[in-house]
Amino acid sequence: MPPKSLSLLVVVCSILLASASTEASIDGWQTISNLTDPKVVEIAEFAVKQHNMQVNDMLRLVSVIKGETQIVNGVNYKLVISATDALAKMTESNYRVVVWDKPWTKERNLTSFEKIA
Ligand SMILES: *[C@@H]1O[C@H](CO)[C@@H](O)[C@H](O)[C@H]1NC(C)=O
Ligand SMILES: *[C@@H]1O[C@H](CO)[C@@H](O)[C@H](O)[C@H]1NC(C)=O
Repeated sequence: MPPKSLSLLVVVCSILLASASTEASIDGWQTISNLTDPKVVEIAEFAVKQHNMQVNDMLRLVSVIKGETQIVNGVNYKLVISATDALAKMTESNYRVVVWDKPWTKERNLTSFEKIA
């Protein structure tokens, strides 16, 4: 291999490596510092509402306990919430929910909703 193409290969490789590491940090989850942020509460309310509609449940949001966000063609919210269950004598439980939000197209989806044992 002539030296010129070897150095080109090195350049291409380092560009690939650089973009791979940038992607890794973009893909990373970031802890939400303000759990009373209206946007975070709105996402939690949405998750509870969607869940109630999907399975005819009667949960009511109490609070957001913790959360993380991830930028992916919009924002993924992974939250731990506390909710009371009107169909179970208002017992309070924690749930892990994932909501995908794309504000500029007004798309928002509940990806998962599960009770934490
Ligand atoms: C969190 O957000 C709420 C609503 O925007 C605000 O009132 C409150 O001061 C914020 N708390 C912190 C610690 O930034
Ligand atoms: C999100 O939800 C909307 C309406 O509920 C639906 O049309 C859309 O296909 C969903 N998108 C994804 C990625 O699930």
